[in-house]
Amino acid sequence: MIDRIVNTGIDEVEAEVEQELENTLRPKDFENYIGQDRLKQNLQLAIEAAKKRGEPLDHILLYGPPGLGKTTMASVIAHEMGSQIRITSGPAVERAGDLASLLTNLQDGDILFIDEIHRLHRTVEEVLYSAMEDFKLDIMIGKGPSARSLRLDLPKFTIIGATTRAGALSAPLRDRFGMIHRLEFYNHDQIGQIIERAADILNVKIHPEAATELAKRSRLTPRIANRLLKRVRDFADVNGDGIIDTSISKQALILLDVDDLGLDPADRILLMAIIENYKGGPVGVETIAALTAEERTTIEDFIEPYLMQIGLLERTPRGRKVTHKAYKHLNRTPEPSQDSLL
Ligand code: ADE
Repeated sequence: MIDRIVNTGIDEVEAEVEQELENTLRPKDFENYIGQDRLKQNLQLAIEAAKKRGEPLDHILLYGPPGLGKTTMASVIAHEMGSQIRITSGPAVERAGDLASLLTNLQDGDILFIDEIHRLHRTVEEVLYSAMEDFKLDIMIGKGPSARSLRLDLPKFTIIGATTRAGALSAPLRDRFGMIHRLEFYNHDQIGQIIERAADILNVKIHPEAATELAKRSRLTPRIANRLLKRVRDFADVNGDGIIDTSISKQALILLDVDDLGLDPADRILLMAIIENYKGGPVGVETIAALTAEERTTIEDFIEPYLMQIGLLERTPRGRKVTHKAYKHLNRTPEPSQDSLL
């Protein structure tokens, strides 16, 4: 993955520092969690009902673009339930035995959060089916004709799965979640509030207009908002008196090459590639990947969702299409044959 200030993913080197920052800024409960109101209402209801019945919470699948707070929401759910949370990810659970060890170490009411659950190995996934459905662990002992299966009781736990691509989950796994919710992009106002809250926690002074300016360029994504805030704080510390005003934030964002819609070079390269090589499209995602030297999954998971959300890119049955709004934003004139564009 290329290095982008607006990356919604995190590479391994960066992960630890990023994690620390995210943990400090992460809201602990629903009251401090800004946005995702419908999801919060649904979860609050489910939590209250589960508590009233003295039962564990049903398994929950959270999906949506990266950086919108799936992990944060999982830890808020655990806090609100008064439960312990164990965190792992699809690729980290390599064998059925790894999952067996995770599950047998849980206690009643615990939450097991599995990030990138679509990347679970098929053999691991199959063990998860009966674990989720009946709280039983089916394990095979021995090999060949003497092999037999053993059924172990598991504690009554809750799985919270997170994925950027719900479509990549197998139907049997998806069917075992009692609640399936999509996290939506935030609006500018909510991102502005998240920035002000983060600035408060980090002890950074930021003018309200500067928070608004940063919010407009954060791709409607809290993880990016918090990351931009850190970079602009660096700029303010070095080039000013540490206070973030609009002038400081604009200069810092120019340096970061993030434009007034939050686009960075990778977004602009993608849009320009479609405009210059395919007259705005439609063109298939594999072709775009070849043209821009990006992986298909990087395009689909990290770049496109925001471009589509703000109406710069369209997905059609024949491929991706750049919209009039994108031409305008990039100061380009659509060719006459492209008049059918939105
Ligand atoms: N920090 C990151 N995401 C947040 C959210 N949704 N609410 C409050 N603070 C956050």
